[in-house]
Amino acid sequence: MGKTFLASTIAYLLATGGPDGKGVKRRVLVLDYDSQQDSSKAFLKMDAIPGDDEYAAPLHPEVDEIVDPEWSGRNTSTDILFDSPVYEYPTAFENIQVLPSEGNVDRVLSMTPQTASLAPTITTYMRTWFSDPELANDYDIVIVDNPPSKSPVSAGILGAATHVIIPTEPEYDSIDGVPMLLNRIARINEERPDHPLEIVGVVPNKVPSKSRLTQKDEVALAKLYDRNGPTGKYMSRFWLQQRNCYRVMERPSVDESHFNYVHNHHALKEMQKLYELVESSLWGNEI
Ligand SMILES: Nc1ncnc2c1ncn2[C@@H]1O[C@H](COP(=O)(O)OP(=O)(O)O)[C@@H](O)[C@H]1O
Ligand SMILES: [Mg+2]
Repeated sequence: MGKTFLASTIAYLLATGGPDGKGVKRRVLVLDYDSQQDSSKAFLKMDAIPGDDEYAAPLHPEVDEIVDPEWSGRNTSTDILFDSPVYEYPTAFENIQVLPSEGNVDRVLSMTPQTASLAPTITTYMRTWFSDPELANDYDIVIVDNPPSKSPVSAGILGAATHVIIPTEPEYDSIDGVPMLLNRIARINEERPDHPLEIVGVVPNKVPSKSRLTQKDEVALAKLYDRNGPTGKYMSRFWLQQRNCYRVMERPSVDESHFNYVHNHHALKEMQKLYELVESSLWGNEI
């Protein structure tokens, strides 16, 4: 769908001051909570585990400098939910730090024996962590790569967010998921009327170029943008096209070249629009 693509692109855009580098350079923390670990791999060299599909968090580069007897020298985003020390990882980008995904969610599922109460428990832990003044001191924004699943982990993390941005592909299965997710957000918001989860926008992704847009795609897109439909008012005013230069997650990288597509002249306009959408939603800046 483009969750990891969107999360990592936004992280890079905000950290570098937009495609032209002239905006404010935000200090960004990326939390990967997706078991596929793609955001982790986009920013860190993860440790392969022999005989396993999953990757382990690498040894922290400051393991020799940080003196903490309770620390194992590695961290995943799941550590936030436990009373263990958490040290974010630096990346190749000055303003981007990361906590990689643990892959497996078993440790979280064992937090409480009653699955029903796990989501609110996670929300509480996340909120507590987010409200630490030290975090606000170190970062301007925390970006979470979180799948829209109904799992308590996913739901619990969504409950602690302040803003949400939703990618969708212009095809039926993906589009059907959007009103469902918006419904869930509406239900979450019933319980937090004072500080509702704000929808930054639904961003269509992998939209074929005009010449390749099939009748079916066109109908699907029109359905999304229908002002009388459930998604219309949340749609972003632009979309991201299907582009070869965006096909980057297939080749994990940890250096600047990973984000070359942001400066690709074909993509520049939509990258600028994406940057403006996030900057204006979060900081109210008209660029
Ligand atoms: N607009 C796009 N055009 C071409 N490829 C894209 C586009 N958006 C994402 N991709 C590629 O599609 C794949 C899946 O995207 P990804 O963001 O990893 O999805 P998700 O995190 O939702 O599973 C990745 O290889 C990514 O680079
Ligand atoms: Mg992903």
